[in-house]
Amino acid sequence: MINKTAAIIAAAGAGNRLGADLPKALVKLVDKTLVEHAVASLAPVAQLIVVTAPAGFVDEYRKILGDSVEIIEGGVLRSDSIRIALSKIPNQYEYVLVHDAARSLASTTLAATVIAQLINGEQAVIPALDVIDTIKEVDSKGYVRNTPERSSLKAVQTPQGFTRSVLERAHAASDDATDDAALVEAIGIQVKVIAGEERALKITTKSDLATATALLIPNTQRQIRVGIGVDAHAFGSDQSKKLSLAGLTWDEVALDGHSDGDVAAHAICDALLSAANFGDLGSNFGVADAKYAGASGSQLLSETLAKIKAAGFTIENVAVQIVGNKPKIAPRRAEAIAALSKALSGAKVSVSATSTDGLGFTGEGKGLSAIASALITSRN
Ligand code: CTP
Ligand code: MG
Repeated sequence: MINKTAAIIAAAGAGNRLGADLPKALVKLVDKTLVEHAVASLAPVAQLIVVTAPAGFVDEYRKILGDSVEIIEGGVLRSDSIRIALSKIPNQYEYVLVHDAARSLASTTLAATVIAQLINGEQAVIPALDVIDTIKEVDSKGYVRNTPERSSLKAVQTPQGFTRSVLERAHAASDDATDDAALVEAIGIQVKVIAGEERALKITTKSDLATATALLIPNTQRQIRVGIGVDAHAFGSDQSKKLSLAGLTWDEVALDGHSDGDVAAHAICDALLSAANFGDLGSNFGVADAKYAGASGSQLLSETLAKIKAAGFTIENVAVQIVGNKPKIAPRRAEAIAALSKALSGAKVSVSATSTDGLGFTGEGKGLSAIASALITSRN
């Protein structure tokens, strides 16, 4: 159904406001340049793509984009670039999409929707989003002239779609405009507005590039890693020592152990280290290191967090289950969660517990164990 559609991708700008030392369209966004992203999203719906390049960059654009698109040198103004590109589109193309390379992440679906409206009989179709800020018209002296009703205002995007004849007439009639629809309006053609997309934002400044990166990364380079950890200790015999468990002190007798014997904290540390593939508690805070001899569970959690943070990881959540028939965890669950979370700089923590039906050393009340899992992510 979608045929006879040509697309112009305006990519001949300098990108002054972005301030890179190369044309904006050649700036990389995660895995590809901006112009490659734009070509990739229009290629499935356009049978011909003409890309405008800045003077002196035609060969470089060709090298990057290959032979499947036509590269031409653009003009001084964006409208000049579009006009030159339009003159290169053979007559058999009935519809023309005009798109900015700067709106690199506009989806194929958006382009297909624009074309569908043209096939439906519209002559000019533009995507747009509602305006969030109140907009003022301001005079050259800096005084408000007028406040247009916000509900009738829209922020316009690309790809914009036109029948070829309308776009040609519009460009023949006027000189310059920042969007093609304005030229079409000027010759009295009705322009249909459809719903735009957040991801079709125009990348103009460095912060736009960061926004676009964040939109893209969940699908590409974000690492999501899970880890597991287990710890177990026997109850000690020194009745004067109180149990440290899940970052809290309890009435039961302490567990034997290298540090404070907090099996829940240690299992979480191991889970975090395992998720990051950083080995385990022993290899990071070894028994041989006197510094950790009396370390509290909270201290080990904080040091573990520092290690994984330094490698660019963020904790999504950790879960720990304590295995044993005493102490009863439920009455102090919220307290335990708060203590563990505090040691991990506010990470999401959950704490559960189980007895083992009288079986094994935990069921017999000889000791405690804990099992933990951790989910961490990074944007590397
Ligand atoms: N464009 C073009 N020809 C021009 C000027 C701009 O093809 N003579 C293209 C740009 O490459 C961009 C789109 O039109 O994809 C929208 O322009 P804008 O976002 O303003 O990009 P630049 O002009 O490159 O950026 P700046 O204004 O910051 O220099
Ligand atoms: Mg510009």
